[in-house]
Amino acid sequence: MTERIDKWLSSRSSYSRKDVKALMKSGRVRINGVIVTDAGFHTADSDIVTVDGVIFSSEKHVYIMQNKPKGVVSVSSAPGDTTVIDLLPQDLRRSGLFPAGRLDRDTTGFVLITDDGDFAHRILSPRSHVTKTYIATLRDPAEESYVTAFRNGVVLGDGTHCLAADIEFTDLPNKVVVRLHEGRYHQVKRMFAALGNAVVELHRAQIGGLPLDISLSPGESRLLTADEVEQI
Ligand code: URA
Repeated sequence: MTERIDKWLSSRSSYSRKDVKALMKSGRVRINGVIVTDAGFHTADSDIVTVDGVIFSSEKHVYIMQNKPKGVVSVSSAPGDTTVIDLLPQDLRRSGLFPAGRLDRDTTGFVLITDDGDFAHRILSPRSHVTKTYIATLRDPAEESYVTAFRNGVVLGDGTHCLAADIEFTDLPNKVVVRLHEGRYHQVKRMFAALGNAVVELHRAQIGGLPLDISLSPGESRLLTADEVEQI
């Protein structure tokens, strides 16, 4: 199937159709290496479309892994703040992108960014049992009693009963691995607060079966492959 290049590119980038027309007029758009200036030119998904040499993905939906640094907010737009979307390089930007699930401003690690609302809904629903794995650094050493408390479902300060979760100890007494099967506001911090402890550092290391790519430095993002999306 083919589609007009102005329509094709505007649905796969942050450019409007008007922007695309202007970019084309100034010779910045190439299809399979050839400059195309006619916005009515029809392109196929197998074509390679570039703007200033940057290739744009032909996929209908994209799934992006980001290693969120501290201080960045996981929303689509927040005037005055830096969002996870602001950190995306130009070739990964397109309209409709949003983070599927939030991390607190001071939490680091795996944020999934997509424009696929159905997929986001599926992975965020507690019924889908997509596990989120966190590494938490605690103010006080972890206690054995946490294992049973997590297994039984921690009751938060406001009376909310969390689903059963897992906690694993590490070589460091103040560092634990936590696996949650739901995503409540400030959940990890509130769970440890309910147990009389406090979280001083929090990092999301994995979503479902997909670990954060450790080659991504804080602030970096990359597209997921179809296999990796499956792993989630
Ligand atoms: N739980 C928290 O407390 N904060 C996060 O950012 C994620 C999970």
